[in-house]
Amino acid sequence: MSVAITMRGDIGVLTLDSPPVNALGHALRRDLARCLEEAYARPELRALLLVSARAGIFSAGADIKEFDHAGPQLAPGLGELIDRIESGPLPVVALLDGVTLGGALELALGCHYRLVSPRASLGLPEIKLGLLPGAGGTQRLPRLVGARQAVEMVLGGEPVTGEAALRHKLADARVPQVDTLEQALAWMRNAPGGLAPRRVSSLPALAPQAVAEAAHEAAIRPVGSAPAREAALLCLVAAQGPYEAGRALEHDWFARLRDGPEARALRYAFFAERPRAPSGDASARRIDQVAVIGAGTMGTGIVICLAEAGLPVLWHDVDADCLAQGRARVRQHFDRQVSRKRLTPGHADQFASAVTTVGDMADIAQADLVIEAVFEDMEVKRGVFRQLDRILKPGAILGTNTSTLDVNRIAHATRRPPDVVGLHFFSPAPVMPLLEIVRGEATHADVVAAMQGLARRLRKIAVVAGVCDGFIGNRMWHQYLRQAALLVQEGAMPMEVDAALREWGFAMGPFQVADLAGLDVGYSIRQRQRSETPERPWPDWLDRVSESGRLGLKGGSGIHAYPDGGRQPQRDAEVEAMIAAASREAGASPRAIPAGEIVERCLHALIAEAARLLEEGIAASAADVDAVFLAGYGFPRWRGGPCYSADVSGLPAVVAALRRRAANEEPQFWQPAELLVRLARQGARLQDHGREAA
Ligand code: CAA
Repeated sequence: MSVAITMRGDIGVLTLDSPPVNALGHALRRDLARCLEEAYARPELRALLLVSARAGIFSAGADIKEFDHAGPQLAPGLGELIDRIESGPLPVVALLDGVTLGGALELALGCHYRLVSPRASLGLPEIKLGLLPGAGGTQRLPRLVGARQAVEMVLGGEPVTGEAALRHKLADARVPQVDTLEQALAWMRNAPGGLAPRRVSSLPALAPQAVAEAAHEAAIRPVGSAPAREAALLCLVAAQGPYEAGRALEHDWFARLRDGPEARALRYAFFAERPRAPSGDASARRIDQVAVIGAGTMGTGIVICLAEAGLPVLWHDVDADCLAQGRARVRQHFDRQVSRKRLTPGHADQFASAVTTVGDMADIAQADLVIEAVFEDMEVKRGVFRQLDRILKPGAILGTNTSTLDVNRIAHATRRPPDVVGLHFFSPAPVMPLLEIVRGEATHADVVAAMQGLARRLRKIAVVAGVCDGFIGNRMWHQYLRQAALLVQEGAMPMEVDAALREWGFAMGPFQVADLAGLDVGYSIRQRQRSETPERPWPDWLDRVSESGRLGLKGGSGIHAYPDGGRQPQRDAEVEAMIAAASREAGASPRAIPAGEIVERCLHALIAEAARLLEEGIAASAADVDAVFLAGYGFPRWRGGPCYSADVSGLPAVVAALRRRAANEEPQFWQPAELLVRLARQGARLQDHGREAA
């Protein structure tokens, strides 16, 4: 049974206990309905208390896995159950001692009172899944907290703390973190004015125009999908009218959105980004003390991530001035977080004091994990690893932060390759949620597992990749950028290519990203690739732009112009002249290229390379590939990821298109991987590849 009922005098305690997160799937709904009726039939009961048996979580809301099956339709539905609680004969109090999301907050809104503990976190994240709260949330929440807060919570999808919930009257009282259940029972026994059932749905509707005004004032970054945002706003507007009509509208929209393509893709993305079970024994190597080598941009960012996760960090750089500057940047970072009200001054001090700079590398000898973040150069890194090998205690993990270099070669600079692992942090490390864990040919499974555990502590999405040039993300990104650059050689302007891909949903165009990353970085990678993989030629114009001294955004000009220190890309006549000259020399005859063709070709490059990564075993699953592109490269979430989007187009159609391309240009690159051909023939989906192993 996922719900238990116990009697505490004249109060019945209903305890939700469905691991891991009390998702409100059919079994839990059925058990809760049964317990409720049992309680209502007991004449001695005066009130009910709804609690969770799971530490730190009340419930994660509806069971998302059910949305693709008949689950949510199986009686009792969540909305039905909530209505029964609200209209039932006994007052029901919800004790929200932890995370309370989506349908769980709607359940709490159907209760007559809500108590919060210090660790409570209350939110309606449905919009992130391309949905809206479908169990009365769009109608009850605004009646309780007003239009402004409701718009922020429903359209923004971010949770609020227990304290904020109290301020907004979403919660009625706080209970301390110790003896929470007893405190809640005591509150119920002493509730001021007794415990009459208070029904949120009976509260007055919002004033006319309230939602339009609130939406106008709220500055919310668009999340989820456009249809969900529009529908959520419509339903909130309906909360200006009768409850029942609003509820019916919400019900309708929920079902429509749930079965729509955007919500399906967003659900897939949600599960693609969940942590994978480690393939080794995570407990085998404890990480209590970390050290970082290098105080450049990446080293500093990594130190911040580690300190924020509560890990003590020893930090070394051969250049003492650079280390001192790094330390100052770390302090500035935490101070900025305080001024933006994201951190308390106490936490900022605590995080900053977790970092100890050391002038002598020998002082890191006892670290359990060392992350090297020095200049991206094989010989420099191998030199550092030789030193680390001499200094570190046995069993320490040696991580190298690299975005393209061969982790095996770095590992072989030591006498302990099984302890060496690649850690590809994305820049800026404190902001970007992705971490590629690069498994070398000798890396021990317990090292990979320990890094998966570390990623969880850092709250990063971890994907394990094998060794190759660029691992998963950059290897695909290079082919995507290469096709974008070839399209420019054939006649599209960089601004047009960027606009087409942004219009399709990418957060930024490829050339904008290249400018942001720095053209010097891309240039040196291309020079290496020109000799190592000549069958995948880069057009000349991109190198000429770099060779003209343009560094990208950091230098004020790159593929695009950034006049007056701005960040908005503009057309650049000089670059266009370089493109025209290089294209002429390459014998290209410029043509107008439609946006659809630009998007299709760049996407096909991603899919072709993704299939090869899967075939070669560099990526374990299509979900891993998609997670990398969603979390690291701004791929539109509501399109699921490159592999998912291939399934949406249909694999046979994708294979046919790749073959057509292979017949006309770059046959080695465009020839579809055998894996893709086989899946297409079998009528299988790419997104399922590797799922069992994941
Ligand atoms: N349904 C089904 N499974 C869920 C789930 C949900 N709502 N939420 C989490 N899970 C699963 C995860 O897939 C994971 O499963 P595995 O162990 O098999 O991989 C497990 O629970 C633990 O999740 P996390 O690894 O994410 O654990 P965490 O501690 O890092 O985070 C969490 C916990 C904050 C609850 C996070 O999982 C989360 O944000 N979940 C989604 C919450 C959400 O979006 N709820 C709204 C649902 S839609 C809805 O409720 C509609 C409605 O109006 C009726």
